[in-house]
Amino acid sequence: MFFTNQSKNRGLNKKMFVFMSIILLVGLSLATGALAGGGGMTLKVHTQILEAGGAPKSGPCPQPRNTKSAPASLAKASIPAGANAETGKKIFQKSAKPMACKMCHGAIGEGNGKLGMVLTPRPRNFTCADTMKRVSPGQMFWIIKNGSKGTGMVAHGKTLSDKQIWDVVKYIDTQFVTR
Ligand code: HEC
Repeated sequence: MFFTNQSKNRGLNKKMFVFMSIILLVGLSLATGALAGGGGMTLKVHTQILEAGGAPKSGPCPQPRNTKSAPASLAKASIPAGANAETGKKIFQKSAKPMACKMCHGAIGEGNGKLGMVLTPRPRNFTCADTMKRVSPGQMFWIIKNGSKGTGMVAHGKTLSDKQIWDVVKYIDTQFVTR
């Protein structure tokens, strides 16, 4: 009788111990969290990552692609000699309307921008050779100008001149693309 009681108590003590440890751990993590600036800091870092256009995971590679093809002559065209990658960079990272390309394609072109993460199909991951070997500069020009119907890729033919589109194609092609 006495023996069983004691083992019951032991069981209870063990439970108490586990319970107290959990309380202690939670308290400790709250305290260290507060010291490091609390949730605010974590949130800030997270927002910074998102604002940089880089989300943790890059876009799919290779990626299924049902995008319309540019007319053959354009698909084979090379980037005009006058195209300016620096101007293209500003368009891509900042000034494009309705929003910067990086919002979807990511600041380093991996198809993982803040908005891109939630789109279906996902934005093109320009760093994926398996996908990009089928996407020529002329093809890029065509889709940037006309958009890809039924996807988040809107037409920019009204907001960017042909020259500006080639500028951004040159930027993407020289900065991100491997074929
Ligand atoms: C709202 C999100 C969004 C924005 C903003 C956006 N794109 Fe896209 N983009 C996409 C999606 C989604 C696709 C994939 C379309 C498809 O699969 O047909 C894509 C595809 C592309 C492609 C690949 C075309 C192909 O034939 O595979 C290029 C090049 C491209 N975008 C360039 C740009 C440039 C340059 C800008 C800025 C001027 C831009 N995108 C802005 C979502 C976006």
